[in-house]
Amino acid sequence: MKALVLAGGRGTRLRPLTHTSAKQLVPVANRPVLFYGLDAIREAGITETAIVVGDTGDEVRAAVGDGSDFGLKVSYIQQEAPLGLAHCVVIAREFLGDDDFVMYLGDNLLIGGIADLVAAFQSSAYAAQLLLSRVAEPQFYGVAELDADGAILSLQEKPDVPRSDLAIVGVYMFSPVVHEAVRAITPSARGELEITDAIQWLINRDHKVHSYLVSGYWKDTGRLRDILECNRILLERVEARTDGTIGGRSEIEGRVVVHPGAVVEDSVLRGPIVIGAGTKVVRSYVGPFTSIAEDCVIEDAEIEYSIVLGSSTIRSVPRIEHSLIGRDVEVTGTSRVPNAHRLMVGDHSKVQLRA
Ligand code: G1P
Repeated sequence: MKALVLAGGRGTRLRPLTHTSAKQLVPVANRPVLFYGLDAIREAGITETAIVVGDTGDEVRAAVGDGSDFGLKVSYIQQEAPLGLAHCVVIAREFLGDDDFVMYLGDNLLIGGIADLVAAFQSSAYAAQLLLSRVAEPQFYGVAELDADGAILSLQEKPDVPRSDLAIVGVYMFSPVVHEAVRAITPSARGELEITDAIQWLINRDHKVHSYLVSGYWKDTGRLRDILECNRILLERVEARTDGTIGGRSEIEGRVVVHPGAVVEDSVLRGPIVIGAGTKVVRSYVGPFTSIAEDCVIEDAEIEYSIVLGSSTIRSVPRIEHSLIGRDVEVTGTSRVPNAHRLMVGDHSKVQLRA
């Protein structure tokens, strides 16, 4: 069994972060979302892994390397343009050979791992195995329609009128017959070779496609609110640990992780939160479900339910919440007149100022 991890795509819903960075490397609980998938693959006993990368390939390569940090043997396949998930299978043909494989979308977070599902697939004669999860807005996903016995009747990709609320999770298991399917289908209306169409092709030809309803937490981290929710779910599982320095009149409540070299002074930290290595928190409040990455400065500020990426500064700001702040960003308050907001904001950014 091999693994094919998809870490290309444009991540348009996460602009401006994805102008400069891969969406799969946005950190949740201070760890790129992609890393949780790589852990799950290793825990399922798979080592041979290829990662399909696009424009942000260099950054993904720098983060994952040869995979040895994850106990994996990782190689890379360059996708020249985001031509669809099934196109990734086409270009990975040589790597995949005639093995079964897991295809794991690098921006999907699935808590609970895939070891049982991989084992079940390996002892089956299924052509493909899908995971499904009930969602509130199925129109944004691949959608499965099941019959009364749970067999798949049809699949639709991001339908205007979904036939069910069962979304297709971005973790699939395939036998080599899928190579026939991905070569047989044609691009969808959005110009991509859809894996959903390839699986429908298998079903139409009476290949066995099995589906499981995932019992644990699953999220596609394509949108801001989904990333913040994943961050919350992962922070709910952290163990308190202080490796940094906490001084002055600071108050620590709940599960707080302070990484080595971080300094907290005269501040209130209310967990669950993670403070990255080398970050300084001074005269500030950091509230629940916040992940601050490494080398940031939080001074005379309040922040809650947010993610701050590395080397950013937040100074003299009354309260930030529900926010995703990129790398090397400065958010500062000022009492300089005229009393106004002063912004230099990149393309496709979203700023919501308190009225
Ligand atoms: C892809 C698939 C979709 C699936 C989703 C899960 O969509 O095409 O069927 O439900 O991943 O994350 P994307 O988010 O790449 O547009």
